[in-house]
Amino acid sequence: EQINKGKYMHYMQKEIHEQPESLTTTMRLIRGGACKSKTVLLRGLKDHLKTIRRSRRIVFVGCGTSYNAALASRPIVEELSGVPVTMEVASDLVDRQGPIYREDTAVFVSQSGETADTLQALDYALENGALCVGITNTVGSALARKTHCGVHIKAGCEIGVASTKASNWHFAYTSQIVVMAMLALAVGGDMISNETRREAIIDGLLDLPSKVKAVLKLDEEMKDLAELLISEQSLLVFGRGYNYATALEGALKVKEVALMHSEGILAGEMKHGPQPSNCFSCLSYLFHKHLFCCSKQQSVIQQLQARKGRLIVMCTKGDSASVSVGGSCRVIEVPHVEDCLQPVLNVIPLQLLAYHLTVLRGHNVAQTRNLAKSVTTQ
Ligand code: G6P
Repeated sequence: EQINKGKYMHYMQKEIHEQPESLTTTMRLIRGGACKSKTVLLRGLKDHLKTIRRSRRIVFVGCGTSYNAALASRPIVEELSGVPVTMEVASDLVDRQGPIYREDTAVFVSQSGETADTLQALDYALENGALCVGITNTVGSALARKTHCGVHIKAGCEIGVASTKASNWHFAYTSQIVVMAMLALAVGGDMISNETRREAIIDGLLDLPSKVKAVLKLDEEMKDLAELLISEQSLLVFGRGYNYATALEGALKVKEVALMHSEGILAGEMKHGPQPSNCFSCLSYLFHKHLFCCSKQQSVIQQLQARKGRLIVMCTKGDSASVSVGGSCRVIEVPHVEDCLQPVLNVIPLQLLAYHLTVLRGHNVAQTRNLAKSVTTQ
C-alpha cells in the first residue's frame, strides 16, 4: 500500500497531484500536428456523431462529481453542437419519470460505471428509445456494456493502473471535463464558423497538464488557508457561468471528505436567498475573466464583503489588481486558459483545500465516514 502511495501520505493527495499525468493520458485521444489538422478522434462515437448532431436535445445524466463535471461541460457542448443540453440528476429523472424521447441523446457520466441510480436512469432512457452514450472510467462496467456507444476516459492508457479503493476517484472530475470538451469538439464537427474557437480549445487542452502543474504549486498556500479555516462552521462557494460547477464540486469535496458544511451557490442567486453573515464565516468566490468584468459580478463581491464574512477571491492571473474589494480579501490566482477549460484548473485549489482541511480536522482521508467510492444501492 505504501508503495502505491509513493511519496504521498494519502491516495487522495496522490490523485490530486497526479492530475497532470491523468490529463495527459486522456489527451492522447487528440491526434494531429499542425493546428489546421488538429482533430479530436473519439473512436467509440464515430458512427453515432450524425445522430447526436440531429438530436432534439442532449440530456446529461449523472450523480455527485460526475453530474458536476457534466454541468461544467454543458455550455461548450451547446455552443459547438447547437443542440440544447438539459441536466438530470439520475435519481431525480427516475423519480419523476421525466420525459425522454427517441430523438434524444442521453449522455451518462459515471466514473465507476456502476452507480445504481445512474444505471437505473440508463435503463429508463433505453426503454424510451433514446440514443445512450456512456462516459466512464471503467472498461467493462455495466454502464460501458449497456450504452449504445461511449468514451473511456482512460482510453489510450498504456500501463494499466491497479484499481485501489480511491484510485482515479478525485481526478475523474478534471478528466471528465476534458473528455466532454472533446465530445463537444467531435459533435461540433468542422464547421468553418467554429474553426478559431475549436483551435483555441485544442491548444488549451494540450496546455492543460503544464497549467495544472502550475496550479498544484498552490499546495502550501491552500494548506495555510485550511489552517485559517479549520474551525469554521461553513464554507460557501459562489460561482457563475462555467464556474458554477466548480462551486458545486468544491463544496462537495469539502462536505464529503473534510466533513464541513459547505454549499456551492450560483452567484446570480446571491440576492435571492443566501444570507451569509459571520456565522458563515468563510466565503469563497470564483469567477471567470469575462464575467469578472461584468458589473453584476462586482456587485456580488461587494455584497459579500458587506456581510463581513471572510472573503476569498479566486481569479485568473493578472486580474487580482482589479479586484476592487479592499484589503480584507484574500486572493488566489490561477493561470488563464480557454473559458470552457477553466473549471479544470479552478477546482484544483478547492481539492487541495478539502484535502488539507480533512487532515487538519483529524478525519480519516482514506476512509471517509458514510462515503462509498461507488454507490451500488438505490
Ligand atoms: C458516490 C461518491 C461520489 C461520486 C458519486 C458518483 O456518491 O461518493 O463521490 O461522485 O458516487 O459516482 P460515479 O462512479 O457514478 O461517478
